Amino acid sequence: MDKLKIHGGNQLNGKIFISGAKNAALPLICASLLTKDTVTLTNMPMLSDIKSLNSLLLQMGTKIDEFDDFVDGHPTKTYSYTTLEATSLIAPYDYVRKMRASYYVLGPLLARYGHVELSLPGGCAIGARPMDIHLSALEQMGATIEIKNGYVHADINGRLHGADIIFKVASVGATCNILMAATLADGTTRIENAAKEPEIGDLIDLLNDMGAKISGRDTSTLTIEGVESLHKAIHKVIPDRIEAGSYAVAAAITRGCIELVNAQSSTLQTPLSILRSMGVEITEKDNSLIVDARGKKLVGQDIMTDFYPGFPTDLQAQFLALMLTAEGASMVTETIWENRFMHVPELMRMGANINVHGHASAIVRGVEKLSGAPVMATDLRASFALVLAGLVAEGETIVNRVYHLDRGYEKLEEKLRGVGADIERIKESDEAE
Ligand code: UD1
Repeated sequence: MDKLKIHGGNQLNGKIFISGAKNAALPLICASLLTKDTVTLTNMPMLSDIKSLNSLLLQMGTKIDEFDDFVDGHPTKTYSYTTLEATSLIAPYDYVRKMRASYYVLGPLLARYGHVELSLPGGCAIGARPMDIHLSALEQMGATIEIKNGYVHADINGRLHGADIIFKVASVGATCNILMAATLADGTTRIENAAKEPEIGDLIDLLNDMGAKISGRDTSTLTIEGVESLHKAIHKVIPDRIEAGSYAVAAAITRGCIELVNAQSSTLQTPLSILRSMGVEITEKDNSLIVDARGKKLVGQDIMTDFYPGFPTDLQAQFLALMLTAEGASMVTETIWENRFMHVPELMRMGANINVHGHASAIVRGVEKLSGAPVMATDLRASFALVLAGLVAEGETIVNRVYHLDRGYEKLEEKLRGVGADIERIKESDEAE
């Protein structure tokens, strides 16, 4: 397994190009299953999660064409997806286990073909991650759902029908799945308490370009008038707000100055307000964001994760690491996932002062210095928090299990080296030599 070796202490300065959003791209890819026409996605990030989902679609009979492309002079990928006729309606365990978002095939395939077999994803490091909201909404739309041998078997005789659905939790995944399913349903579907994350707005834009009739974008009530069929579209994936927020913290924690090119500051207002109240200077431009912490003494702030536009749970670990270098105490409260402080024991091994109370809260006290250590995390964002701590720690930090980072951070070492970090990847094969 690859590792990252980091020598801490360098102030990071320069520009980082923000890639297309992973969590937008994944449902967009699955939306292509709703039509026999070609759906083309530009500004796609090069990530292992995208490769995993592509391989699931390939085994379902989708033709995928890949092109090298450029956005603002930076290399990206464009993918075209054509599912003339699906040859398999089964999402096997080995795919779903690796890539939870494989469950986004459920809504589109059920709406188009009336049958799907999807391995249940099961829990993961950050929490139980149930699918009950997705499944009960599909039942309300007329589907028969049965769980057999670890698989969801979903069937519908004819077309799904419109329904008035109230989500008990504003789930991102369920909102995407039900939105996609409802585009081809007979009649009108209304989702109350829908999630409002920007990635959902991006999905609505693509679906409407494909001929869907969805209103209520950016609100918690979505109305979808079903249509008979959808057609081809070309769509540019929005910039990744979590990647941008992560590199904003890299600037702040090293007391440097980074311009995040292609970042969409409108989607980052809550984390940016926290950075500002800590003492970081933020300049919002049309197509970029400048995060300047040079010469600043940062002050700790409390954060509590929440549904969008609240503070994103996917930035909690990174901000917690930042609070370690700020003056005073900060309370970090996690409300979305029940087990999302796994970075804490690893950070403590680097000299952090953190007290976790129950599953939901941690008191973080600023420390004089962190010291490098071999560390590892069990999820993507926690792994980035360890990289951040390594960037300011004295000496060498080895971050193990880099495959977590490869799922969600495109060209991580290259981007960090470009702004002055001393970081390198130790390949498994190098290690063996
Ligand atoms: C998505 C993101 C993930 C992020 C999360 C919250 C993707 C691929 N992943 O995950 O990075 O951390 O949103 O912003 O976009 N829940 C239920 N029943 C369900 C579904 C969810 O109880 O059927 C609960 C979950 O346990 C959790 C909460 O709802 O406590 C939010 O989950 P959800 O928004 O569905 O997260 P994901 O879509 O899985």
